[in-house]
Amino acid sequence: MEIFLDTANIKEIQRFVYLIDGVTTNPTLIAQEQAFGNFEDLIKEIARIVERPVSVEAVSQTAAEIIRESRDLAALSPHVVVKVPMTLEGLKATTALQAEGIRTNITLVFSVNQAILAAKAGATYVSVFVGRLDDIGHSGMAVVEDAVRIFQTYGWSSKVITASVRHPLHVIAAANAGSHAITIPPKVLEMMAHHNLTDSGLQRFLEDWKKVTGR
Ligand code: E4P
Repeated sequence: MEIFLDTANIKEIQRFVYLIDGVTTNPTLIAQEQAFGNFEDLIKEIARIVERPVSVEAVSQTAAEIIRESRDLAALSPHVVVKVPMTLEGLKATTALQAEGIRTNITLVFSVNQAILAAKAGATYVSVFVGRLDDIGHSGMAVVEDAVRIFQTYGWSSKVITASVRHPLHVIAAANAGSHAITIPPKVLEMMAHHNLTDSGLQRFLEDWKKVTGR
């Protein structure tokens, strides 16, 4: 399972770069980094650090505009994957972008039917927003499970990204579902590394070692 970091924060990316397979951003995450300055420079800097896929969102509405904007975004770095909204215009743009060799990540996917269409359009990645589905009382992970199985059944090359991750249990569920990728906020990645028994066990070992060495 590819692990992407869901942030546009340079410090967090530097902190976890050795653990991750790429980064995903969205307009909300970019808006939190306005202190960095220019948006294009921020994306170039992220791509320079990560040297792996960096998802950047196109905000245009029509297929023609999405295609134009995607070309500009893809020109920022060979690592850029363009996030395209899950609309009919977005799907139309995706088929054209695939033919041009521009990788896409269809975003804001909330149903299995949307995932099927995204795969048929030739999306490189399909981002299922599990947390936002859970928030409204639906099972986000059920969409991931179905999409993964259907893509496998038909040999479709699109990869499912489990997105909108809220807690470490989402990560385990995504891995159990065979999700090809997951994008994890820094806070959740940090929680995954910690366990109280690790902390107390380490403390005990260090104390006992002091008895051996006298230091
Ligand atoms: C990732 O591609 C999405 O933009 C992100 O996971 C959305 O997460 P949120 O629902 O916490 O905003």
